[in-house]
Amino acid sequence: MDVGPNRDLLAEIRAGILGAGGVRFGTYFSLFAWFHPLWNADQKNNTQVYVDTISTPQLKDLVTNYQPDIVWVDGDWLNSWKYWKSDEFIAWLYNESPVKDTVVTNDRWGMDTNCIHGGYYTCHDGYNPGELQSHKWENANSLTAFWGFSRNINFNQYMSLRDALTTLISTVSAGGNLLLNIAPDHNGRVIPLYEERLRDIGLFVNAHSEAIFASKPWIYLNDQGGVWYTSQLRSTTGFDPYRFFNPQTQANTIVYAFITNWPSNNLITLTSPKPTAQTTVKLFSTNGQFIQLNYTTVNGGIQTSIAGINKKKFAPSSVNSGILVLKIEYTADDNNNPVPVQSSCQTCQLIMTNAVNYFVQNNAITQSALQTKLLSDCGTFAVSQDQTSCKSIVNKDFSKVYNDLKGGRNYGEICDDLNICTAA
Ligand SMILES: *[C@@H]1O[C@H](CO)[C@@H](O)[C@H](O)[C@H]1NC(C)=O
Repeated sequence: MDVGPNRDLLAEIRAGILGAGGVRFGTYFSLFAWFHPLWNADQKNNTQVYVDTISTPQLKDLVTNYQPDIVWVDGDWLNSWKYWKSDEFIAWLYNESPVKDTVVTNDRWGMDTNCIHGGYYTCHDGYNPGELQSHKWENANSLTAFWGFSRNINFNQYMSLRDALTTLISTVSAGGNLLLNIAPDHNGRVIPLYEERLRDIGLFVNAHSEAIFASKPWIYLNDQGGVWYTSQLRSTTGFDPYRFFNPQTQANTIVYAFITNWPSNNLITLTSPKPTAQTTVKLFSTNGQFIQLNYTTVNGGIQTSIAGINKKKFAPSSVNSGILVLKIEYTADDNNNPVPVQSSCQTCQLIMTNAVNYFVQNNAITQSALQTKLLSDCGTFAVSQDQTSCKSIVNKDFSKVYNDLKGGRNYGEICDDLNICTAA
């Protein structure tokens, strides 16, 4: 390393992370480099010199030399994936690179790929849909109002511990992953306020690890008054390991309820878990212990009180954060399906993204060839309902779609023109 700090900082960070054990190493890469002269020239000349000589070689260097488990790209909003040659890079990454069998990627590969293509979807910063998604997703968030380090920041611009944990819990409940950004200062130090938040979050997740790391979403995501659920199965034999949620059966399902608003009257009311004669309700206590709570059945749900419990008996991280957690077992069978039905606007945007991409690749493609390709793509949609709705969208008025493509309209505008989405 004969530039910058004369040290290979990334290699040192990588060694530190891998040396800690149990932590994966991932890298962030910004495609866009804020008006680099070669990028500027590309925009004028309709060339890809910046991509060929700077961004793609840098990305390949990063992957080859540092072998990250996550390639998290960004800076996608000004150019298409076609400009960035993201398809070629991803093909290399998954077929030839040294991490081809282990790597995962996000979705920011060009301005038309967010929330549509990618190993997992990050959509926009702070994306937290509050509903189960049928594709793995991530809430990319920051502990402060900024992504970079700011010396001009107020105390109240840092997320409180309770807000950070509520963000984590609501994300995990809906099957997402939380990316929580902290910003080192100009000397690379993690300032004590960040450190304190991270240590406190660590205390909480370790004290409740069975409800977080080992969990999957449940058949209900949340309940009145800031309650979020996760779940586990006693036996997972015969279940798809990649299932989006755990079904609810009395014998097999364990439900965790995160109470993010400490109840002022000490009463917790849960409407979603339906008690049976066997149901038990336990509070996470100190040192991995539980306190069994009595409960009553109220409107078919569970009502329990924490009034009689000495504060010292609560998990310290609960007292610290104001969030307490219950473990609920042997509640009644329930077939609720939490996967939301995709709106026809979302389905339209998904399929019209393909239309735009095919048309960009080959603008001599005939209307009927394009329509055939899209109908075939509809057949690969994951949920059977989406397939039917997708095909009817493609069959609706395809000459209009084709004219829109020739006119250079994007997938959103095409769906607006079809009256499937409403223009904002
Ligand atoms: C473009 O589409 C046309 C008509 O559908 C087809 O004949 C042609 O082979 C395609 N060209 C390329 C390069 O794929």
